[in-house]
Amino acid sequence: MGEKIIEVSFQCSSNIALVKYWGKKPHGVQLPANPSISWNLGDLYATTTLKVFQRDTSDTPFVFTLSGKSKPSFEPKIEQFLLKIAVDCPWLKNYILHIDSENNFPHGTGIASSAAGFGALGLCIAKVEEDLGLLQNSTMDFWQRSSYLSRIGSGSACRSMYAAPAVWGETLAVEGSSDLYAVELGGEIHPLLTHWRDVVLIVDDGEKAVSSTAGHALLKDHPYAEARFAKAQLNLIDIVRAIRTGDVNRFIEIVESEALQLHAMMMTSVPYYLLICPNTLAIIEKIWQYRAETGMRLCFTLDAGANVHLLYDKKDETDTMNFVRKVLLPYCKNEQYLCSVIGLKPKQLR
Ligand code: DP6
Repeated sequence: MGEKIIEVSFQCSSNIALVKYWGKKPHGVQLPANPSISWNLGDLYATTTLKVFQRDTSDTPFVFTLSGKSKPSFEPKIEQFLLKIAVDCPWLKNYILHIDSENNFPHGTGIASSAAGFGALGLCIAKVEEDLGLLQNSTMDFWQRSSYLSRIGSGSACRSMYAAPAVWGETLAVEGSSDLYAVELGGEIHPLLTHWRDVVLIVDDGEKAVSSTAGHALLKDHPYAEARFAKAQLNLIDIVRAIRTGDVNRFIEIVESEALQLHAMMMTSVPYYLLICPNTLAIIEKIWQYRAETGMRLCFTLDAGANVHLLYDKKDETDTMNFVRKVLLPYCKNEQYLCSVIGLKPKQLR
């Protein structure tokens, strides 16, 4: 192995989709079938350090460690990622990448660790390109390029680049939106939807029965795919309007409906499958009951798993957390939950 050329390090958070990315276009690399929008989970992040060495022809192209320990089960995904981005980053063949990644949340809690991990790795690679002057003729800025590269690792990762809501996929609602990378939702974000938080209620911390990548693939011959993609397009336009005007009730309706549509698509895939559990439904019922009784404006969303994300306004923190502790924690596995602010941009550490 040759000399070390450069070392960079980024912290990048996971994100939670409000309108879901579920299904990929039949052409291209990891292009979404419909636009999605997400909030960054600022307190749940991956920290990735990339060391770049000069490469001799006999060297292996990369070494991957998770918190300093080798993790062979992650290697095929990284290898695939590096192969796929080789077209965009021909310079990679001259270097060895030492990648170390670490999550500040437990693995297997259903938090999109691939979004945070590939987000951080995309940022590191884009930074190396920038610092070594390896990128020519790109029309993308640094964040777009990082998002573009992260997308190839995991679609949802491309939305982790911004403090403001991130939009990925072409939509008339957002100027400059693209299937290739996520953009920040510019313009006004209503104060009523600016300071929200997320409590992730861990219902199940095991491995998912069907991975997201496998789930996306089932949209290919799905009987309701076209209707779902069209609905997501409309929901995206509608939620952007709600975010701008502060229509919190409409925001809540769209977010909850999107979560249920995501799981409805799983239940109606061929073959069908279920990722939610009885306790997922019990938590949803309790949230609805609490909202009806108190008039508080909070809502749930779901990822591709059994865990429930409870989204609420920071001003309701005390009441919401009392409700979580008293009513919802009994439905969580070992009473586990994770809290996060919404927003926060990735941070360069080195
Ligand atoms: C349900 O980004 O994990 O979380 O692109 O195949 O890596 P790949 O899938 P992934 O899918 C995430 C799907 C989702 C919804 C969302 O984040 O929009």
